[in-house]
Amino acid sequence: MSHNLLSGKRGIIFGALDENSIAWKTAERVFEEGGRFVLTNAPIAMRMGQINELAKKTSSEIIPADATSEEDLENLVTKSMEILGGKIDFVLHSIGMSVNVRKGRAYTDEKYDFTTKGWDVSALSFHKVMQSLYKVDAMNEWGSIVALTYMAAQRTFPDYNDMADNKAYLESVARSFGYFFGKEKKVRVNTISQSPTPTTAGQGVKGFSGFIAYAEKMSPLGNATADDCANYTVSMFSDLTRKVTMQNLFHDGGFSMTGVSQEIIDQFG
Ligand SMILES: NC(=O)c1ccc[n+]([C@@H]2O[C@H](COP(=O)([O-])OP(=O)(O)OC[C@H]3O[C@@H](n4cnc5c(N)ncnc54)[C@H](O)[C@@H]3O)[C@@H](O)[C@H]2O)c1
Repeated sequence: MSHNLLSGKRGIIFGALDENSIAWKTAERVFEEGGRFVLTNAPIAMRMGQINELAKKTSSEIIPADATSEEDLENLVTKSMEILGGKIDFVLHSIGMSVNVRKGRAYTDEKYDFTTKGWDVSALSFHKVMQSLYKVDAMNEWGSIVALTYMAAQRTFPDYNDMADNKAYLESVARSFGYFFGKEKKVRVNTISQSPTPTTAGQGVKGFSGFIAYAEKMSPLGNATADDCANYTVSMFSDLTRKVTMQNLFHDGGFSMTGVSQEIIDQFG
């Protein structure tokens, strides 16, 4: 159901790989709410993914950009403003990848070249995206920038590996850049800390099925789905949340505040 919450707003959405991607669901919901946007992903993902289908469905153009490349990002920002006919109101950073996880390296046996690459893609890229927008004054006043994160930034989940450190860095960048973007441009910057979600990136985490089932039993409202996340992100892009900034917003059905649930106690009773 549409409430036209994003009518007249323009944005950039990173990270829609396939129809399971949180960015994919978000793009569909943003479109329903009247937002118009450019879709972007790493050039390699263009070949693998089905992004053209999403572009068609949402009347969007696609601009490939490796989120670690300043040159690609500068091009993306300039071209997006040309295509959309003005400055940007919302940006979704929905990007994550750990080479150590992909190659099956344990946290206690990291290959640091892999660590650096994963950090650049998953965490520093958020700074690079914001700096590219900031430098050319691409954001409209009261715009909103959101990145997706996970609670392993605060609490240890052994198989989340070096992504935990990447997410801690990402959340810190949101606070630090949020200060400058707020002061200078009246733009808000937040991270949404999402429940485990069955996507390509999510399922790359070792033991994911146990992980998601445990979270479901621990969360009073159950896990937040990708569709739920899309709805929350729409609200963060809308004018209804103008004074929310520099926050890490848990979107996890209550998991982060639950010590233990009855279902888990029953399993040990
Ligand atoms: N799935 C979960 O359980 C879960 C939970 C909490 C947070 N998140 C976060 O949500 C975000 C989206 O992930 P998802 O679960 O939708 O998985 P996904 O695999 O669908 O999306 C990850 C995206 O990152 C893109 N990407 C990788 N390297 C890139 C690069 N160099 N430049 C640009 N894009 C690049 C991929 O192409 C892909 O589209 C990630 O930040 C992830 O960490 C996921």
